[in-house]
Amino acid sequence: MESPLVEIRHLKQHVGQTVAVRGWVRNARTSKTRFIDLRDGSGFVQCVVGAAEAEPEAYELAGKLTQEAAVRVVGVVQQHPRTGAPELLVKGLELIGGSADYPITPKEHGTAFLMENRHLWLRSKRQWAILRVRHTIAKAIRDFFDGDGFTLLDAPILTPSACEGTSTLFGTPYFDEGMAYLSQSGQLYQEPGIAAFGKVYCFGPTFRAEKSKTRRHLTEFWMVEPEMAFAHLEDVMVLGERLVKFIVQRVLEGRREELEILERDLAPLESVLNVEFGRMTYTEAVARLKELGSDINWGEDFGNDDETILMNAYDRPLWVHRFPKAFKAFYMEPDPEDPKLALGADLLAPEGYGEVIGGGERASSLQYLLDQIVHEGLDRADYEWYLDIRKYGSVPHAGFGLGLERAVAWICKLPHVRETAPYPRMLGTLRP
Ligand code: 4AD
Ligand code: MG
Repeated sequence: MESPLVEIRHLKQHVGQTVAVRGWVRNARTSKTRFIDLRDGSGFVQCVVGAAEAEPEAYELAGKLTQEAAVRVVGVVQQHPRTGAPELLVKGLELIGGSADYPITPKEHGTAFLMENRHLWLRSKRQWAILRVRHTIAKAIRDFFDGDGFTLLDAPILTPSACEGTSTLFGTPYFDEGMAYLSQSGQLYQEPGIAAFGKVYCFGPTFRAEKSKTRRHLTEFWMVEPEMAFAHLEDVMVLGERLVKFIVQRVLEGRREELEILERDLAPLESVLNVEFGRMTYTEAVARLKELGSDINWGEDFGNDDETILMNAYDRPLWVHRFPKAFKAFYMEPDPEDPKLALGADLLAPEGYGEVIGGGERASSLQYLLDQIVHEGLDRADYEWYLDIRKYGSVPHAGFGLGLERAVAWICKLPHVRETAPYPRMLGTLRP
């Protein structure tokens, strides 16, 4: 009888049975007994090939296997005497696809080399773990908004105009229309959606021609952007906090094995679930930064270093709100208490990570927005449609964007955002 084909993740339900598993050889060690570390995408298992139990051809083949060879193994599932993890006592072994001179060996490789081989690097245990956490975060994001009465309103990627300033636009010729730009944010398209659906979100790729190399900036990244009618700055902070807690909870519930592979310290993540996030005005944050040794002056945007300094000294996620209007986007509602300030809020992640959410309340006055468009040197004709919502039933509204890769980097505690995307795009990185 054919042995049932089982995914490695299900092996623990088959202890004592003879099963077949297909996968790739991570590592093969040969002494008298031969060992194969096998990976099938669903998990990892050690296969033990003993001369006594294995068919002679299987034993022989096991001695010749190379890294990343694809194989089919038949064996009895048993529990590792010490760890209790399932392992396979091999009877039969069949080569499906050979592999010669696999470039990524267990020894150390430089980042440039790994990035060039990203299509292969994906197979490593660490990358597997990170991208599975990413998947869980993406799913948590959708479940959160779908379960909270938000309607999915996909935003276009080819757009005629800028949302987040004209200095980071990627352009492409667009037939007779002149230039199109890859979307920096779906926000301008979500705002009209609130008058049709009340609460909307989009979740998709966004693009910024970031010309500097940092640990936090990609040129292509995914962003989820909720937008709510009849909402204010406070609602942004409340919703963002609920979302982040929901995401962290899902990862802690569903990705223990992956977090263990990443050697992620769980205590700081668990504590996120139990604290109220901090809040500080920009003005307070600047004062705190000065105490911590930063040379920032009031009126300047935070640099990456400022965010790191601030968040190394803070034990929980922190909302910074009410920024100087001068360096924030044109669409932000001014603070009625101080018109130099905009009603924006950024959520900074702890453990030195910095901004993961940016958002705020949107200007609802037509005249104010018109003035801003002129002030920023934008072409009014490109925004006429956007201004319409201030003409027909304008209401206070607010929303934010959470960057998926920034969230993955923090939750996995990665030193650099490049490992958070399957195929990251950054300055100097377009291949593979
Ligand atoms: O703060 P940002 O620029 O805000 C917006 O784009 C708003 N229009 C969003 C909204 O209110 N609907 O970007 C939002 C988030 C940041 O907090 C960060 O997490 C991420 O997007 N982000 C980037 N992630 C990776 N690489 C980059 N270059 C990023 N730029 C922004
Ligand atoms: Mg921002």
